[in-house]
Order: sequence, then structure tokens, then C-alpha cells
Amino acid sequence: MTERAVLAVSFGTSHRDTLEKNIAAIEAELAAAFPERTVRRAFTSGMILRKLAGEGTHIDNVPQALERLLAEGCTDVVVQPTHVMNGEEYHKLLAQAEPYRARFARMSFGRPLLTAAEDYAALGRALMEALPAQRADTAVLYMGHGSEHQANSAYALMEYAFHDLGRKDVVIGTVEGYPGFGEALRRLKERPQVRRVELRPLMTVAGDHAKNDLAGDEEDSWRRRLEAAGYETVCVLTGLGEHPAVRALFVEHARQAE
Ligand code: CO
Repeated sequence: MTERAVLAVSFGTSHRDTLEKNIAAIEAELAAAFPERTVRRAFTSGMILRKLAGEGTHIDNVPQALERLLAEGCTDVVVQPTHVMNGEEYHKLLAQAEPYRARFARMSFGRPLLTAAEDYAALGRALMEALPAQRADTAVLYMGHGSEHQANSAYALMEYAFHDLGRKDVVIGTVEGYPGFGEALRRLKERPQVRRVELRPLMTVAGDHAKNDLAGDEEDSWRRRLEAAGYETVCVLTGLGEHPAVRALFVEHARQAE
């Protein structure tokens, strides 16, 4: 344990495979980028933390992680969220960390993935590295999480950024906010030549929403609904954290906060 640390804060997931491939991969990248800092993990989702605890895995919430760092003599912590947008979970993290600020000599916060205008172009470029070449008969449909929070406007802006970067074949919908599946389907239909849809999650991890709501066998999954609408589908279930260029963006945000 060193006096300096990075606390990587995620919403969390109970799916171990995607936890390793995304959250742990981002943490490893932070550890490599900040060799002089100890990297620690916290999750913000009480529901996920309780589920993991029931399975015998304890992961700290934000207060527990900060308390632990203080007890171990840490004086300087960079808190880096792996959240996509400046939404409810990120603001919960800020509120939970605030009471600890005075107890550290220095506490700083890296921004979520999509915050400043340049973040959108940066994420677009990072994800485009993994996209297939554009074809007139194919669209790429990302599933974001979405919420009631005002930061939900991030998804429309992200789609705009893709289009500005030349990927007008990209449509973004959300599972719990606006635009939803219905709006996304309408956008796909605006391009009558599209016959095939590549489905991808726009979430840090490819967990429950990706496996079930996006690609699942139930009739109401996006895949099944697109197939019912006559589209051929292909699902690519990689979380954002599986893209090296996206992990680099989280590292960059932590660096700017340091
Ligand atoms: Co959800």
C-alpha cells in the first residue's frame, strides 16, 4: 500500500465473466498507467453488492473503500468512475465521497466516459476501431442503458457524434430511457435498404442487459424483435471496457484529474 491511490468506481455487475473482461481490465490499465498508486475497486450499485455478498464475494461500496484507504495511510486518492454518463450512479458516488474529502490531503475526481464535448468524438473514434466497414444493407444498433436522469441526453449526442465521424449507419437506443427500442426501430426503417442489424451494448460491461434484453431468446429481446420485423441480426456482446481504446479514455480521464 502506498500513500497514493486510484479508486476505480463502477456500477458493478454480478456476471463474473464480464466483470473480469471489462471492470478488472480497466482497473489493470489504471494500475499500469499509475505504478506509483495503489488501485482499488468499489461498486455503486447496492443491488449488485448485495447479490455478490449473497454469493460470498465482498466488494466495497464507496465509503467502505475510502475508509479502508484512510486506515491504510492513503493521503491522496484519484476517484475514477467507469460510469458512461454523469447520471444517477455518478452523482451518488460524488455524494458518498464528499464527506471524506477533508480527511485526505488530496481527493480528485476523473470524469465519466461521456462528459465534455470532446469525449463523444473520442468514444466514437475508439469504438469505430472495432466496427466493420460500412455497408448499405447493414446498420449498427447500440443499446445504451438510459435513465430518467437529465444526463440521458448523452445518447442522442453520442449518435450525433458517430454520424459526424462518418458513421451514419449507427443508431443508438436505450433499454430504460429515450430513445428506446421503438424509436431506434423507426430510425432503422428510415433506411429501407438495411436488411441486417449488428447489435452491440453501449455499456461498460456486457452483463444482464446485453445478454438478455439485447441478445436474449425471449420474444421481447431487441434481437428477437428485430428478427420479427424482418431483419437479419448479429450480436457482438463486448462491453466498452473490452476495447483497449476505451480503457485508454478512462486512463486519460484519471490523468487529467491527478
Ligand atoms: Co439496468
